[in-house]
Amino acid sequence: MPALLDIRGLFPRDVVCAVRRIGSRTPPLHPREQAAVARAVPRRQREFAAGRACARAVLKKLGVANPVLAKKTDGSPAWPHGIVGSIAHSTTWCAAAAAPAHALCGIGLDIETIARVHCSIARKIMTEPELRMLAGADPQKAQTLLCLVFSAKEAVYKCLYPVWGIRLGFHDAVIMPHPAHCRFDVRLTTSKLPVRKPLVGSYLICGGTIVTGISVPPEEKPSLRPRLFSVDT
Ligand SMILES: CC(C)(COP(=O)(O)OP(=O)(O)OC[C@H]1O[C@@H](n2cnc3c(N)ncnc32)[C@H](O)[C@@H]1OP(=O)(O)O)[C@@H](O)C(=O)NCCC(=O)NCCS
Repeated sequence: MPALLDIRGLFPRDVVCAVRRIGSRTPPLHPREQAAVARAVPRRQREFAAGRACARAVLKKLGVANPVLAKKTDGSPAWPHGIVGSIAHSTTWCAAAAAPAHALCGIGLDIETIARVHCSIARKIMTEPELRMLAGADPQKAQTLLCLVFSAKEAVYKCLYPVWGIRLGFHDAVIMPHPAHCRFDVRLTTSKLPVRKPLVGSYLICGGTIVTGISVPPEEKPSLRPRLFSVDT
């Protein structure tokens, strides 16, 4: 297992990232953060606290004094005004990425352990073009591809949901990986979202873990954003 995951290359320059291993020690939480996991099992409390520790670290780097990151009723983190970001955990790692909202309108980050993604979920999460990529691949490659598509879709969801407030299903996007560049194209198959330009994400594979990252440039900021903001808060 690597000593640390370096995820900075997954995002444009303005994005600040933090990664930590989820250990047995639970980092301290602010009471407003603690409320979200007060009744959760210890493992969930540890991953939540580790994610919040990463998020607070990136917020401090972005100049936010005494950051607190409560959880919204929809599960997404309540990033401070003027900041967009994303949090992810696997069983081993947690990470956060954030940027000023003038630089990006959305960020999505996800971490998955390849061995934990079972091939039985392929039909549930993959579209026909994605399933065709698995055909003929040896079992190890097929599992890696499946995990990559799954992780990319989770990152896409975490990136787009806070911007538009619309829940995407696994069949609302097609992921096409480009292994030579560790990139993936995202083709939205739904007209639910007014995304104009093609979305491109990045990934890294390290020690049995896949990390995916995607961001949306500020010019995609939709006109319906003010209405959704007033519903969300
Ligand atoms: C919400 C979801 C994406 C989280 O992903 P996950 O791989 O299960 O879990 P991760 O540990 O990577 O990420 C969890 C973090 O996502 C963030 N999150 C949760 N809901 C979110 C939302 N609606 N929008 C943005 N971020 C969200 C939170 O920070 C959460 O961690 P925290 O509770 O400790 O703060 C996932 O549970 C889900 O609902 N997926 C189904 C929808 C989907 O992915 N569709 C595919 C669209 S193409």
